[in-house]
Amino acid sequence: MILENLKEAPKDPILSLSAACKLDSNPNKVDLGIGVYRDEQGITPVMEAIKLAEARLLEAQTTKAYVGLAGNEAFNQSMIELMLGDNSSKSRAVGVQTPGASGALRMLADVIKASAPDATVWLSDLSYANHAPIMQTAGLTVRYFPYFDRNTKLVQTDAMMASLKEAGPNDVVLLHGCCHNPTGADLSFDGWQTITEMAVQQGFLPFIDMAYQGFGDGMEADAKGFRYLAERVESYVLTGSCSKNFGLYRERTGIAVIAAKTLAQSNRIKTRILEAARSSYTMPPDHGAELVNIILNDETLKVNWLNEVEQMRLRVDHLRNRLATVLREKSGHSHYDFIAQHKGMFSVLGISPLEAQTLSEKYSIYLVGSGRINIAGMQENHIDYIAESLLSL
Ligand SMILES: Cc1ncc(COP(=O)(O)O)c(C=O)c1O
Repeated sequence: MILENLKEAPKDPILSLSAACKLDSNPNKVDLGIGVYRDEQGITPVMEAIKLAEARLLEAQTTKAYVGLAGNEAFNQSMIELMLGDNSSKSRAVGVQTPGASGALRMLADVIKASAPDATVWLSDLSYANHAPIMQTAGLTVRYFPYFDRNTKLVQTDAMMASLKEAGPNDVVLLHGCCHNPTGADLSFDGWQTITEMAVQQGFLPFIDMAYQGFGDGMEADAKGFRYLAERVESYVLTGSCSKNFGLYRERTGIAVIAAKTLAQSNRIKTRILEAARSSYTMPPDHGAELVNIILNDETLKVNWLNEVEQMRLRVDHLRNRLATVLREKSGHSHYDFIAQHKGMFSVLGISPLEAQTLSEKYSIYLVGSGRINIAGMQENHIDYIAESLLSL
């Protein structure tokens, strides 16, 4: 009988970790597993600008009727503006609102599959845990290029570029726009220039996943690398997420952007994304997108919002620097200095899965087996304990 033969799906390691942390009675416990921003009180707050936009929306909204397959077109335009700035590729870029960047990754994967059924998607080793499953579920082949140097904990740019020499017109190269998840190691601007030249020469399709704009060096600085690429390549696809920088995680707010050779071609591809959306979730949820649209089109709210994102960025940056300093002071060596060089919410520490398990089971410091920690999960008074536990491994 249908359904009876199905075994239980494997548990999601990050969600299981979070559940184990909740049950732990150790007063020193720290949850560095799940990828959400937390403030010094350990809370993932609703941003002030979002609260204000919600009040306006509550007052002004007169209907909950369907919006359309592409979602909120004003949101799409505002997000393109935010991500591309005054980039020349904006004139040929079109957007489709999606349920988070996750939805955008899947819709773009479906469209790539429709266009080139035997295309290969190259992912960085390591990459976001959901990249490979999404690409593979869409029927695409996944290959990995060397990225994270396990010795230096930085990007091994030479090995990356040497490996990507093989990528041609039937390949897609997926790059993190900024704040690489899980490693925290970002491509340098030189790296972006090299990969741009290679895309132009070799004809592969750059696929940029932008989930943390504003969390690395700032809202504009974080977009510098991919904007350089966007100006120079014939075509690219891009995802945007409002989960972290608008704190809209559960509202599932994101965008898929396509910039082909011409606007007419981008619009043609857009109809394929709409077709893919129609046969899956049909339309994205509106609430989060309308809030983002209100904020990005109101001078005062936008300034407030940018300020709030900057505060989050500075907090993460401060915690990074503190942890690296305390580790250096307590150990007398500079092994963990790379933590201060990483960008965004995450760092991969380079410890073994067994050591990660020891941290969770013996010290109640919860982190995933890859050795990724969520810096934003720490509070100032956790730092000594985390450093001592790490150095005792
Ligand atoms: C690199 C990357 N891409 C995409 C996503 C998906 O984000 P969302 O679907 O919440 O917008 C995440 C979330 O953690 C991520 O880290």
